[in-house]
Amino acid sequence: MDKLRFGIVGVGMMGREHIRNLKLHPEAEIVALQDPVPECLERGVKQLGRPVATYAEIPAMLAEAELDCVLVVSPNYTHRAVLEPLFAAGLNILCEKPLCTTIADARWAAEQAKAHAAVFWTGMEYRFMPPAARFIAAIEGGEVGRLVQLSIREHRFPFLQKVGDWNRFSRNTGGTMVEKCCHFFDLMRLIVKAEPVRVFCSGAMDVNHLDERYDGQVPDIIDNSFTVVDFANGVRALLDLNMFAEGSEEQEALTAVGDQAKLEAFIPSGDLVHSPRVPLGQPKRPVRTHVAVDPTILAAGTHHGSTYYQIEAFIDAVRGRAPVQVTAQDGLMAVAIGVAAETSAREKRVVEMSELGF
Ligand SMILES: NC(=O)c1ccc[n+]([C@@H]2O[C@H](COP(=O)([O-])OP(=O)(O)OC[C@H]3O[C@@H](n4cnc5c(N)ncnc54)[C@H](O)[C@@H]3O)[C@@H](O)[C@H]2O)c1
Repeated sequence: MDKLRFGIVGVGMMGREHIRNLKLHPEAEIVALQDPVPECLERGVKQLGRPVATYAEIPAMLAEAELDCVLVVSPNYTHRAVLEPLFAAGLNILCEKPLCTTIADARWAAEQAKAHAAVFWTGMEYRFMPPAARFIAAIEGGEVGRLVQLSIREHRFPFLQKVGDWNRFSRNTGGTMVEKCCHFFDLMRLIVKAEPVRVFCSGAMDVNHLDERYDGQVPDIIDNSFTVVDFANGVRALLDLNMFAEGSEEQEALTAVGDQAKLEAFIPSGDLVHSPRVPLGQPKRPVRTHVAVDPTILAAGTHHGSTYYQIEAFIDAVRGRAPVQVTAQDGLMAVAIGVAAETSAREKRVVEMSELGF
């Protein structure tokens, strides 16, 4: 079978993770790298381990390289400008999260994607972490009964240093609740199977980045928050985010409680615990299982194997073997909940999704 020819736009930390993962896929071939920073292109070529065409500008790449697919891995605030020529060229696109930094731009992308004849996919790696995928499938399979509460905890390390330090300011990222937490709002919609109605977020930048200055400016990104999301079907969801907990044994903990049982998933241990309800006074019957990840795939990134599994699913969609799993509309809704949370934290009030046009 002919390989799919990939171009990568943005060859920073995540772009290099995509290179490592595309190298593992038998149907993918990287034919072009694009990045305005020469050192980033050099690091990308080194990661690929062989010569490849490199471009400082997208128009030159589109004029010269023969491409089937493009991965958009440039900073969040560039996504709209990067996507414009890629949509026009009719290419299959996987755009890293967040789709865009504002609701207006994300709406634009969702409209373009609707009219786009090729595949458009929003990068949402967390859906593809094997323990999270098993957790999602178990809830869909009825293992907790009727879902009532969903809670997601991420306790992790601070934001890493990026090329040009773009991730220190909300104007570049959309704010932490968009930039980072769009993953978790996407998981909530996927699991709850309904749309959000209202959002309350209490959060601030209390510990990280306080002493950092960029051209005299202090970063303005939330480093801890609690967010409650009410969904239209009555399910309530909670996100507990902390970004100065790098010593935490588990980075993510997902908990679903239904009228029949409670289900938990832990990452990186990969353990799941299913705890059915028992009559009062009877012994508890929790069952612990473990979801393993192929060590080669695990080692190709820092996202628990998900970058590979998402690429695999994207390729299946491009080949017509499977549907698109994460649409531009999914990307838009994840941004919208993130914007609602940012607004809620800033204005210290509940934000109705209807205020934002949803
Ligand atoms: N899904 C995930 O888990 C995950 C994890 C990390 C990053 N990301 C996303 O990937 C994207 C890149 O993040 P990163 O961590 O690699 O950042 P980074 O700063 O390490 O890399 C960004 C790269 O894009 C290049 N760039 C800047 N402007 C550009 C433009 N106009 N066109 C093309 N390239 C440009 C920079 O030179 C740099 O090499 C962001 O959207 C980020 O949110 C997703």
